[in-house]
Amino acid sequence: MNKQELRKLIRKKRRALTPAQRHKAGRGLTRSLHHSTQYLSANRVALYLSNDGEIDPHWAIEDLWKRGKEVYLPVLHPLRRGYLTFIRYQPETPMRRNRFGISEPDFRRGTHVPARFLSMIGLPLVAFDERGNRLGMGGGFYDRTLAFSRRPGQKPALIGCAYAFQEIRMLPAESWDIPLQFIATEKGITPLSN
Ligand SMILES: Nc1ncnc2c1ncn2[C@@H]1O[C@H](COP(=O)(O)OP(=O)(O)OP(=O)(O)O)[C@@H](O)[C@H]1O
Ligand SMILES: [Mg+2]
Repeated sequence: MNKQELRKLIRKKRRALTPAQRHKAGRGLTRSLHHSTQYLSANRVALYLSNDGEIDPHWAIEDLWKRGKEVYLPVLHPLRRGYLTFIRYQPETPMRRNRFGISEPDFRRGTHVPARFLSMIGLPLVAFDERGNRLGMGGGFYDRTLAFSRRPGQKPALIGCAYAFQEIRMLPAESWDIPLQFIATEKGITPLSN
């Protein structure tokens, strides 16, 4: 199966989950993250708002707020096409829809923080494998934005967030793909060997 076919198949399966299944898995994801020192010690954490059936991290976002942590969401970079930047997310943050119809904090009213200043990023994904390869929606947004993490220096912990069924035995790794360090699912959190 090629990447396109794989994306189509898993996205369909993801969208077919019932609200009850999503709820249960989203809660499970939060419990899994609680087993991670990267999550527990992080001060600035980027997560995402669930779209297209992605596992829902909003319980984790609420947990972080309760613990006084700063939460950030990805926003399409207004000037650098193909890149993301991150804007602080609080309950009262003004939101807008981006060109993909995804809700994001309004960059005109928020302060953006480049990825390298975050302590942890929870990334949505379509598929992953045990070596930390990640298949996203195909835009290359995270890969471009995180390309700096190949160089030495301060970098955020990269934790993929997914349903356990999104694991594939082996994903083709492209030269530009940035590997994940951990994968958190409704079943647990696993360090990946890359
Ligand atoms: N660092 C980069 N510089 C330039 N182009 C890039 C870079 N990273 C990815 N791309 C481009 O983005 C396109 C899509 O990449 P890929 O198929 O890996 O997307 P993806 O990982 O599924 O998506 P995403 O990261 O948005 O979730 C590729 O064709 C690639 O050329
Ligand atoms: Mg990629």
